[in-house]
Amino acid sequence: LPPAIIAPSILSADFGALGKECSDTIGQGADWLHVDIMDGHFVPNITFGAPVVTKIRSHVDRPKAALGKGTFDCHMMISEPKKWVKDFQKAGCDLYCFHYEAAIDSTAAETPEAHSDQKTSPKELIKYIHDHGMRAGVAIKPKTDVNVLYDLLDGSNKDEVPDMALVMTVEPGFGGQKFMPDMMPKVEALRKRYPNLNIEVDGGLSEKTIDTAANAGANVIVAGSAVFGAQDPRDVIAKLREAVEK
Ligand code: DX5
Ligand code: ZN
Repeated sequence: LPPAIIAPSILSADFGALGKECSDTIGQGADWLHVDIMDGHFVPNITFGAPVVTKIRSHVDRPKAALGKGTFDCHMMISEPKKWVKDFQKAGCDLYCFHYEAAIDSTAAETPEAHSDQKTSPKELIKYIHDHGMRAGVAIKPKTDVNVLYDLLDGSNKDEVPDMALVMTVEPGFGGQKFMPDMMPKVEALRKRYPNLNIEVDGGLSEKTIDTAANAGANVIVAGSAVFGAQDPRDVIAKLREAVEK
């Protein structure tokens, strides 16, 4: 199994003190920072864009190895994932995780013109992200079948193969929602087929739900409210890690 990676979601951090929140959570034992980018279109909520990522990046040491400690794991809940690759690369994103649904849905873009300009297949988009020196992740929403990822993960051209799969365990858009255990068959299927794959779960992870996710085979654990709402975030991060490692 690949190593346990704990990635607190800064969606639940204090946005008025984001730089410090980021460096604090790394100091408390987090491996990555999970950075939720929402455009108010792909999901019914808005967070922030590349200029904010640029500013908070300077508060955290860059990872020494690919996907090492300090990795900025940007979860792109946006309708036009190709359009923002350059800006996020410049802002210091290390792992650009787009939604499969946004890459294939021709209705996702605001105007047909905008879309035709940016239209790309998931494979092309993965290559484009790699060409920009970032790792690529592909996320699927709860209603999306896990099978769509197999074609990508089985690809023979490694430039087009994702470095991580993100199985959403809530409908994307908001922190603090209830974990969906019925997503675990997706994680199990992925772990069975790809023993070394980084499999991330996002939504409703806490000390209560971590065993379910870890037993299914998830190794990259996102937790927003469970970490930032805790009295002792260090303890929560340690407990999440223990559950994955045991
Ligand atoms: C939801 C976001 C999550 C969110 C998780 O759309 O993708 O990363 O911050 O928050 P919790 O851990 O509170 O469910
Ligand atoms: Zn997320």
